[in-house]
Amino acid sequence: MKSKTAKETSTITTEIVLPNDTNTLGNLMGGRLLHWMDVCAAISAHRHCKRVVVTASVNNVAFTQPIRLASIITIEAKVSRAFTSSMEVFIDVWVEDPVTSERTKCNEAIYTFVAVDQNGSPLPVPEMVPETDEEIKRYEGALRRKQLSLILAGKMKPEDASELKALFLKNS
Ligand SMILES: CC(C)(COP(=O)(O)OP(=O)(O)OC[C@H]1O[C@@H](n2cnc3c(N)ncnc32)[C@H](O)[C@@H]1OP(=O)(O)O)[C@@H](O)C(=O)NCCC(=O)NCCS
Repeated sequence: MKSKTAKETSTITTEIVLPNDTNTLGNLMGGRLLHWMDVCAAISAHRHCKRVVVTASVNNVAFTQPIRLASIITIEAKVSRAFTSSMEVFIDVWVEDPVTSERTKCNEAIYTFVAVDQNGSPLPVPEMVPETDEEIKRYEGALRRKQLSLILAGKMKPEDASELKALFLKNS
């Protein structure tokens, strides 16, 4: 399988926050943003492997500031690393002021997708080759994040997470 670059998986979505997307304070509902991020990230993972992909986990999501009605949201998703059948996808979200057009980064999230066949069984995916400094940094941290996600899901024993453990030993 031919390896891919993060750039080849880059997916950008633009949305406007409409009344039906908001809570009673007139701010974007978190669940709506999660849905937009999920769709954008799934397209990015699909561009990497050209297979049907399913969401395996959602991590590192923080809603740090309210996003007002009528704001314009730009979501960018890129595969940060591919493993055997799973792909980590980084999502960056910016909000654009509808009057001044000023863009501010407002969210980040990390999703994991798995390529599957028609029966839902995992399939192998191509390697991802990072190029820029930011892509290399995200690529290098991906194995630790995968191990943490698997521990939290009860699919890995903490003692088997050697890369994650090494981080704590290095900093202690
Ligand atoms: C995701 C899914 C295909 C994994 O199937 P599985 O039987 O656990 O298969 P495996 O144990 O072989 O795992 C497959 C890959 O997923 C990864 N994975 C599974 N759960 C994970 C988690 N919580 N976090 C990160 N990676 C995970 C595994 O590490 C493995 O990666 P690798 O092949 O790159 O090493 C299966 O759990 C599934 O279909 N889940 C439902 C998906 C879905 O419907 N999503 C929408 C939710 S509404």
